[in-house]
Amino acid sequence: QQNMTSIFLLTGHLIVLIPLFSTERCVICDYFVLVGEPTALTCPIITLPVLHSDYNLTWYKNGSATPVTTERDARIHQREGLLWFIPAMLEDSGLYECNVRSLNYSSKKTINLTVFKNDNGLCYNGKMKFEQKVMSTKTGKIICPDLEQFKDEDNQPEVHWYKECKPGFLEDKRLVLAEGENAVLIRNITVQDRGNYTCHMVYMYMGKQYNVSRTISLEVKEKPLQTQPEFIYPRNNTIEVELGSHVVMECNVSSGINGLIPFWQVNDEDVDIFDQTYREQFYEEVLPHGLAVSGTKFNISKVKVKDYVHKFFCHFIYGSQQFTAYIKLEYPARNIQGHLIGGGVSLVFLVFFTLFIYKIFRIDIVLWYRDSCHPFLGKKVSDEKIYDAYVLYPKHRESCLYSSDIFALKILPEVLERQCGYNLFILGRDDLPGEAVISVADEKIRQSRRVIIVLVPEPSCYSILEDESEKQLAMHSALIQDGIKVILIELEKIQDYAAMPESIRYIKQKHGALRWKGDCSKRSHSASTRFWKKVRYQMPSRKSGSLSGLRLLP
Ligand SMILES: *[C@@H]1O[C@H](CO)[C@@H](O)[C@H](O)[C@H]1NC(C)=O
Ligand SMILES: *[C@@H]1O[C@H](CO)[C@@H](O)[C@H](O)[C@H]1NC(C)=O
Ligand SMILES: *[C@@H]1O[C@H](CO)[C@@H](O)[C@H](O)[C@H]1NC(C)=O
Ligand SMILES: *[C@@H]1O[C@H](CO)[C@@H](O)[C@H](O)[C@H]1NC(C)=O
Ligand SMILES: *[C@@H]1O[C@H](CO)[C@@H](O)[C@H](O)[C@H]1NC(C)=O
Ligand SMILES: *[C@@H]1O[C@H](CO)[C@@H](O)[C@H](O)[C@H]1NC(C)=O
Ligand SMILES: *[C@@H]1O[C@H](CO)[C@@H](O)[C@H](O)[C@H]1NC(C)=O
Ligand SMILES: *[C@@H]1O[C@H](CO)[C@@H](O)[C@H](O)[C@H]1NC(C)=O
Ligand SMILES: *[C@@H]1O[C@H](CO)[C@@H](O)[C@H](O)[C@H]1NC(C)=O
Ligand SMILES: *[C@@H]1O[C@H](CO)[C@@H](O)[C@H](O)[C@H]1NC(C)=O
Repeated sequence: QQNMTSIFLLTGHLIVLIPLFSTERCVICDYFVLVGEPTALTCPIITLPVLHSDYNLTWYKNGSATPVTTERDARIHQREGLLWFIPAMLEDSGLYECNVRSLNYSSKKTINLTVFKNDNGLCYNGKMKFEQKVMSTKTGKIICPDLEQFKDEDNQPEVHWYKECKPGFLEDKRLVLAEGENAVLIRNITVQDRGNYTCHMVYMYMGKQYNVSRTISLEVKEKPLQTQPEFIYPRNNTIEVELGSHVVMECNVSSGINGLIPFWQVNDEDVDIFDQTYREQFYEEVLPHGLAVSGTKFNISKVKVKDYVHKFFCHFIYGSQQFTAYIKLEYPARNIQGHLIGGGVSLVFLVFFTLFIYKIFRIDIVLWYRDSCHPFLGKKVSDEKIYDAYVLYPKHRESCLYSSDIFALKILPEVLERQCGYNLFILGRDDLPGEAVISVADEKIRQSRRVIIVLVPEPSCYSILEDESEKQLAMHSALIQDGIKVILIELEKIQDYAAMPESIRYIKQKHGALRWKGDCSKRSHSASTRFWKKVRYQMPSRKSGSLSGLRLLP
């Protein structure tokens, strides 16, 4: 079956395929015809080059010694070297013989004619199809083949076309009838154009009409979409490789063309010159849809330092043009992002931790800083003050639980003066008897850097009246005139500040107050306790003089 179709295909392209017809090619050559249609058989030998015009060709029916008649009106006759069946009948199927004789040459050939009926419901027989293939996107041409013998001397036969045995498909604007060639042109042909095309013509012989038909099975092959070759890889990219690692350097090109040869170059020379161990390997593979991939690759078994220096270029040449793409090796970047994130997190954490630590140890840090760094910071401009603090306290309150006298006259000087080296002015200790309290206070406060006010709950034990003017004056100076900082020290929890002067309430609200939790015994008090650290923190930093002794305290 296969063979038959292919041979028939050959007969269909008789003109083109003449050289293929040799006596060697087919022992018995096959011919086909549809019942009711005329056909003219050619003797395959006549194409041999040994023959010249001077020869006699004779047709015989199988085994018969008498030649086929040359009577023109016989249904089967021979004329001009051809064996005619006008028309062919089913019983004509069989073997025929052609004899060729010239002066110095004689040969004969047997052919096998088969007469087919149309397939059921079709205008052709599926075994009798000519096959034709065209590429899509081009203009396709369907030729009605093998009509040479049926041409009238004067006029071209009129050919009608059918697709799947139906007329009318020529209304498609893409299709054009090429009259002189018995052909149909299909522009912008697509896969939808494949199918069975039948051409029909009417042959007039001896006043009678006969149908001659040919059926072409048109196959439309999809053209590769891309004809211009292009790089699949590399794409002018970089890759990160470790020094000493193994890398396969691959370059590949996709195209509709076979035979492109890409090649690697580096530093303007071939890679195998750049490094003897780099051996290129070329490969080519054909993918479906007619696309081809051409590639070349080589191994860098151990990446060396020099491999990072140059770009590796892959070239191919297409139509006198050179195309290039490159790849560059790079050292792997450290995971910068990860480090940034990690660093950011730890930085934030560090900041929070520092703030946290500072919040807790602020006082210690400041005190330590003052002690350790102050001497190196150079002398501050003198503020012309004599006292570090002016101490105000309610006097003579023996009746109360906490003796403000003991605190102000004993404990405070013990710690701040003796241990920390501050210079205090304590009203009632440092003022001269008989001096006017108010004028002394005013003057001394101006000469002080801080005002320490010792508070006791009011009016539990005592009236504040006695000290009112003094306190008010101190407050006034501290807050308004000189901006002197006030340190409030409560000797006892003060439940109700409402009874206090307004300025004290203001300070309490703004800066808070320190509460003394110790007892008023005369035992030694350490400047390193929490309370005294807070006091020292609020005190000015001492201008000079080291207090090495302080740090030795437990
Ligand atoms: C051809 O002729 C031979 C004898 O010459 C005969 O045996 C054979 O059957 C014939 N074949 C056909 C198809 O007629
Ligand atoms: C061909 O046949 C004719 C007669 O039928 C004869 O005269 C002629 O010589 C033949 N030619 C050759 C080449 O055999
Ligand atoms: C037959 O003769 C012709 C000249 O008449 C010659 O050219 C040709 O080669 C010969 N063929 C063979 C097969 O001898
Ligand atoms: C002739 O062709 C028909 C159909 O292809 C086949 O069945 C038959 O066997 C052929 N005959 C010879 C002698 O080859
Ligand atoms: C064929 O396709 C081209 C572009 O795709 C278009 O310009 C042209 O009109 C088409 N021709 C026909 C006959 O459809
Ligand atoms: C062409 O005809 C064959 C039968 O001979 C059929 O199987 C096939 O589907 C037809 N092709 C198209 C595209 O219709
Ligand atoms: C030729 O074919 C046409 C249509 O295909 C048909 O009508 C007509 O009868 C046929 N003629 C002969 C002589 O078979
Ligand atoms: C082309 O080369 C790249 C890089 O080596 C590879 O990943 C890809 O599979 C190759 N493509 C083809 C079709 O060979
Ligand atoms: C590259 O190395 C691989 C194994 O890693 C090997 O299969 C391949 O043959 C090598 N190619 C060349 C060109 O040396
Ligand atoms: C890649 O680089 C080559 C040469 O440097 C250049 O000719 C080409 O256009 C580049 N290709 C792309 C896709 O950038």
